Amino acid sequence: MFETLTAPEVDKIIRLMGMFRDDPREDKVDLGVGVYKTPEGRTPVMRAVKAAEELVWQAQDSKGYVALAGDPGYLAAMRALIFGDAVAANRIGAAGTPGGTGAVRQVLEMVKRLTPEATVWVSAPTWPNHPAIISYLGLEMREYRYYDSETGGLDRASMMEDLAGVAPGDLILVHGCCHNPTGVDLDLEDWRAIGELCLDRGAVPFVDMAYLGFGDGLEEDAAGLRLLAGMVPELLLAASCSKNFGLYRDRVGIAMAMGADAERALAAGGMLAWLNRQNFAFPPDHGARVVQTILDDADLTEMWRSELREMRERMAANRRALVAELRQVTGSDRFAFLGTQKGMFTLLGATPAQVDRLREEFGIYLVGDSRINVAGLTDANIPVVAKAVAEVMR
Ligand SMILES: Cc1ncc(COP(=O)(O)O)c(C=O)c1O
Repeated sequence: MFETLTAPEVDKIIRLMGMFRDDPREDKVDLGVGVYKTPEGRTPVMRAVKAAEELVWQAQDSKGYVALAGDPGYLAAMRALIFGDAVAANRIGAAGTPGGTGAVRQVLEMVKRLTPEATVWVSAPTWPNHPAIISYLGLEMREYRYYDSETGGLDRASMMEDLAGVAPGDLILVHGCCHNPTGVDLDLEDWRAIGELCLDRGAVPFVDMAYLGFGDGLEEDAAGLRLLAGMVPELLLAASCSKNFGLYRDRVGIAMAMGADAERALAAGGMLAWLNRQNFAFPPDHGARVVQTILDDADLTEMWRSELREMRERMAANRRALVAELRQVTGSDRFAFLGTQKGMFTLLGATPAQVDRLREEFGIYLVGDSRINVAGLTDANIPVVAKAVAEVMR
């Protein structure tokens, strides 16, 4: 069976993590992997999570199976967090998944079964797992232009020009907020334009919400999705609690399908639960229960919101500090775009050779497409990073 098998190539980010770990330089800087970090370089367990875990530990008297879709209380709490009151709760079917990646996979599995001829339109660039899963499932994929590397902003006209090519039943995959890897988000007018296009063409929006609360705030970051949900009859959503609850390894996610009415939503939710059964049966419960415990308790919610605010503000402050430092060392506003973007990521615009040089010569680790994680910046390393970037990208 394995005679002709060769090991698959290691994922580039995983490889980068290994290289960083093995680098003996004390002043090395990790701007690669997409996890939040404190100024001390730690990815902490949030205080609200610790407190909720204690409550769960005290109250839980069984580890018996829950349900194929996960706990209904978790599904309801997540629906309220993400959709607010933008649409009636009974129009949304949902199932818990192992992380946001699991949610993306389950949503696309559903599409593969229901509309196998659909093309999935993804932004150029996008999170590499999107094309990987789409291709693995044998779905058609097309890119729409999104990022303008000249301005570091949205290439709005090209995006709409490309999306004009969608056919009925096609999926438009949109990042809910804090676009990975560009940090460039849609404004409300863009969301509206995509909603109108979906209505006009019969396309279905698929929103990937992996960084809710990392941009401008929980409500602000959900505003585009909510606007869109209020416009269209059907919408798909994958959400992750990895980043905003810091629950990375506990694998907490949710797949949601908004239908035209309660009956359709029930059917779609049932299908998501059935797909869970085929792939892994029951979704992980521990992290989902922690999220539910936080969201169902006013004090814990307040604690969590304030920690999330702290993280968001730190990332925004890091962006501003890096922009200021780069302005000083380059004597130009060439990197000002960094300050206008949201969330953890930005593309510096360095070539692969320049990315290699930053790593080899300066011990600064970033992903090959020059994506940096701004949470990896600190007061101490910002001057070092800015100087190296200015030197290498001269
Ligand atoms: C755009 C996007 N979607 C989904 C995910 C899913 O993350 P996880 O599976 O860790 O919850 C990520 C994480 O990097 C992401 O960037």
